[in-house]
Amino acid sequence: MSRIRILPEAVANKIAAGEVVERPASVVKELLENALDAGAKTIRVETESGGRRMIRVIDDGHGMTHDDALLAFERHATSKLRTADDLLSIATLGFRGEALPTIAAVSRLLLETRDAAEDEGTRIEFAGGKLVNVKPAGLPAGTTISVADLFYCVPARRKFLKSDTTELGHIASLVTHYALANPDKQFVLTTPTQTIIDCPPAEKLADRVYQLFGRQALEELVELQPASAPFRSAITEPELEPSEEKATLTITGFTSRPDIQRPNRNGIYIFVNRRLVRDRLILHAIHEAYRNILPPNVFPATLLFLEMPYDEVDVNVHPAKIEVRFRRSQFVHDFTRDAIRQALMNARPIASFAAAAAAPSSFGNSMPPANGTTFSGGITPAPAESGIPRAMIPALEEIGLGSGVGSDGGFDLSNAPLQPVAQRFSFESSAGFGSAAALAPDPAPPAATWAANFAAASSAAPASLPHPDQIADLKPLGQVSSSFIIAVNGDGLWIVDQHVAHERVLFEQHLAARRAGKVESQRMLMPLILELSPRQIVIFEKIAEEMSANGFEVEPMGPRSVAVQAVPAGVATNDAEKLLTEILDGLDRENAAISIETLQAKIAASTACHAAIKVNMPLDNTKMEWLLDALAKTDCPMSCPHGRPVVLRYSVKEIERAFHRI
Ligand SMILES: Nc1ncnc2c1ncn2[C@@H]1O[C@H](COP(=O)(O)OP(=O)(O)OP(=O)(O)O)[C@@H](O)[C@H]1O
Ligand SMILES: [Mg+2]
Repeated sequence: MSRIRILPEAVANKIAAGEVVERPASVVKELLENALDAGAKTIRVETESGGRRMIRVIDDGHGMTHDDALLAFERHATSKLRTADDLLSIATLGFRGEALPTIAAVSRLLLETRDAAEDEGTRIEFAGGKLVNVKPAGLPAGTTISVADLFYCVPARRKFLKSDTTELGHIASLVTHYALANPDKQFVLTTPTQTIIDCPPAEKLADRVYQLFGRQALEELVELQPASAPFRSAITEPELEPSEEKATLTITGFTSRPDIQRPNRNGIYIFVNRRLVRDRLILHAIHEAYRNILPPNVFPATLLFLEMPYDEVDVNVHPAKIEVRFRRSQFVHDFTRDAIRQALMNARPIASFAAAAAAPSSFGNSMPPANGTTFSGGITPAPAESGIPRAMIPALEEIGLGSGVGSDGGFDLSNAPLQPVAQRFSFESSAGFGSAAALAPDPAPPAATWAANFAAASSAAPASLPHPDQIADLKPLGQVSSSFIIAVNGDGLWIVDQHVAHERVLFEQHLAARRAGKVESQRMLMPLILELSPRQIVIFEKIAEEMSANGFEVEPMGPRSVAVQAVPAGVATNDAEKLLTEILDGLDRENAAISIETLQAKIAASTACHAAIKVNMPLDNTKMEWLLDALAKTDCPMSCPHGRPVVLRYSVKEIERAFHRI
């Protein structure tokens, strides 16, 4: 049965089309998407010389009839769209009918395909866009497309290709993305000497994460409780049709523990209806979810899968189909933020001593190593199975799949080229990425045994999932340096930074009081007269109302001075000036307008910092007990409002291991 049709010109013109082939990875992307759209269960990608000599994608999807196979190479020939209306509700990854003709134009392409309902298959050859040969052939059902000598007829573009290693890395990264989005399908990626990825179908996303990134990654992540909710419109949006009320948004995925910090957004993967996208709105929601949990300017690793009705999202906005537009964007934003925040609060993941000890280097490790250099971190043994933070996956824009989002919107996607690596690329190799040795077969789990390893290990994998750490019932033993409380409970030995712990407690208390309109304030014995700079005056006037709701009583005294009559309870008189200038100057540095929530959080964070007990302060047992107890009751005991860790835990297991008892 013939499926493909040529789109009428009026429909074709509505498509955000563009150049789709920039490098081997773009070919792989288009062929993978076609295979997935054809319902394939197993997809094999074979490459030679980083994909420039050969890319072969073999699928067991529905295949094509003889006529369709020929039609597929016409521009705007697609089986996935019929009318302009179909563009409003795209359920497939492809829809433009552009990829195959574009790839055929710049390579030697061989298509071998058989529709499962037909006895005979078809073999079609193109060279530089010209049809060279069409023959019937005995073939298995499904489709194999071999793309040889990419850009052989476009030398200018060939010149722009990077080393084979880099190009292969981009391909590996791409296959990784699609494998994550489709855990129920098998993905294989090979070179003539190596199997780089081989993931058998997995039941759960967690299993797929484990297959691709290893156990450590799972330990560094917390799973989102699968959440779904009917779409709500903002009040300003038109009333919903009754039939629309049923439309739901579902979110699943993983997000990193606060102690896992990345220097850029390359560890963030967002999928909307299984399409990998770079979306500013969702990036913002992730950023908001980590507000007052992560320090500014570092980023989490997040895998996010959003599922929604196809007509809730417009995918026809970017030539490479990497950006989308949501119909009800505010709802999508808030729901995503809350789902991530909730996951973090439920898990309350605490940094372990080992992780924290390695923090600077592990942080360094997650930085893109300059080509030819090696990872410098000496503390964490780099595991063969890499964690996401160390999984060197190139930025989307690097593989020509994303335009840099953000210089305008403040979401500056770092375009530092992270080097690609799938789990089998050796991290321990003394040779750095970019050298051939980095692609040497992994000494640990040889590719062929990967599936076997996984089968053996997978039953153990869920057990390694992070569990809520038991910060409750801590018994203080004393202080180190009058600054860090040493405590124990059944889970192990804990060190608590007394200043940031108290800061977290006060921050949450202050915010809650502010929301309830009940911030307590404390009058100064003598009003404090402050000279403000003209900029500080401007900012102060803007936030005066919010400041008084936060327990400040500040009155103007002439053009440049103010009299501080009261400050939030707990702030010492001699801290009041510092606190006020910190708030005003902090806001001055914000170049964009901030939301009222952000403003409140900033005021609460500064107030908490100035009211909290300091380091170098001896505490008696009762005070320590009180603090540990109050900390255990907070939503986010793991980090302070500025994102620094509050507690470290040396688990009983780690202690036993260190003493060689296990
Ligand atoms: N692996 C495959 N299995 C079955 N049919 C395929 C396969 N690859 C391509 N086709 C058919 O060929 C048509 C053209 O493919 P092509 O990739 O050029 O366009 P598209 O997928 O429709 O849109 P886009 O340009 O957005 O990818 C598809 O619509 C599909 O019907
Ligand atoms: Mg396609």
